[in-house]
Amino acid sequence: MAEYNITLMPFSRRFVCRDNETILAAALRQGINLRYGCRQGGCGTCKALAVAGDLDQSDASTFALMDFERDQGYALLCSAYPLSDVTLELADYDLSELDEAVGQIREYQAVVRDVAFVTHDIVDVQLALVEPASMNFTAGQYVEGLVPQTNEWRAYSMANPPSQSGVLEFLVKLIPDGLASSYVGNKLKLGEHVTISGPYGRFHLRKEPRPALFVAGGAGLAPILSILREMAETRDPRPSIFFYGARRRRDLFFLDELYGFENRLPDFRFVPALSETAPDDEWEGDTGLITDVVARKVPDASGWQSYLCGSGPMIDAALPVLERSGIGLRNCFYDKFLSRAESISLGGATGR
Ligand SMILES: Cc1cc2nc3c(=O)[nH]c(=O)nc-3n(C[C@H](O)[C@H](O)[C@H](O)COP(=O)(O)OP(=O)(O)OC[C@H]3O[C@@H](n4cnc5c(N)ncnc54)[C@H](O)[C@@H]3O)c2cc1C
Ligand code: FES
Repeated sequence: MAEYNITLMPFSRRFVCRDNETILAAALRQGINLRYGCRQGGCGTCKALAVAGDLDQSDASTFALMDFERDQGYALLCSAYPLSDVTLELADYDLSELDEAVGQIREYQAVVRDVAFVTHDIVDVQLALVEPASMNFTAGQYVEGLVPQTNEWRAYSMANPPSQSGVLEFLVKLIPDGLASSYVGNKLKLGEHVTISGPYGRFHLRKEPRPALFVAGGAGLAPILSILREMAETRDPRPSIFFYGARRRRDLFFLDELYGFENRLPDFRFVPALSETAPDDEWEGDTGLITDVVARKVPDASGWQSYLCGSGPMIDAALPVLERSGIGLRNCFYDKFLSRAESISLGGATGR
């Protein structure tokens, strides 16, 4: 096994990367906080310019990394393996971002403590950690779980607040014929042992207390719920509003808790909206695509920050709406729930 030096300019920071690990994996292993999202070559968050050295990028998605970007020397660090010493130019980073605590990423053994359907296609799973018995994470982060009897890992975001560090809660949307979600929906049993690794991800509430606009759809509720639960524990004073999109009334859940944050937080509003109402929904709330509801209700959000979580198309549709309302892209933070299969169909990587 060969090892190569990776140099980060303009900071002259250097770390070692083995030839069988990605540059992102090596950086996180050594506590260097490079930007990333999906770790699967699908979202493009980890894109950086390689100004010197050779990389194996055969796993990188042609969607997240266009051919012309490749020609210019850009790389997806979650999918790039070094073939020599490499120098990366991180012009739009600042040193404090690079040095932000990464948190220790490791494997955990856990036991299933609860499995409950909260809608017809979303399952609430609670895992009690066994070894180690607790996990330090930041609200908004995710873990990867090993699908039992396979070598496949899938990402799921914690819904519990970090204060509840021994029992992790997840909201798993059941995708028809999906490998992990079929297992969760049909086979996962109380007391079963599972392996997870983490915590991963940089989706979290920024410390700077600007008003926060949250947008989620479906199981994208999980990381937002973790953040709101923590905000309620600390009585975070910032103004905040949460737009939650679902198709039908039957797709909404945890409504008591979500409306309850209006009493537990000093300045919070919850706005659920349905995109496909039917008469038996008896729905008097907002209707339409969640992005349209945001555009209607918040025409001017200058000075706000936004936090989005859910499917790639929902986030791609929301970003221009938020930009038009005055939230620059620098203040939009999001986690796209891309599936491995979606990354592959885009030509993306599946290595972990
Ligand atoms: C950072 C991150 C965090 C995530 N957090 C969560 C979470 O908290 N809860 C959660 O439920 N999921 C979450 N996901 C998605 C999750 O990791 C899996 O991709 C998802 O559960 C599907 O896995 P699967 O094995 O069941 O389906 P696969 O076997 O991977 O896919 C089966 C088929 O379903 C299609 N498919 C996959 N996803 C969807 C979809 N959403 N809608 C329609 N078709 C789809 C695929 O294209 C494929 O054809 C997250 C993903 C990322 C990257
Ligand atoms: S983290 Fe590399 S493409 Fe998503």
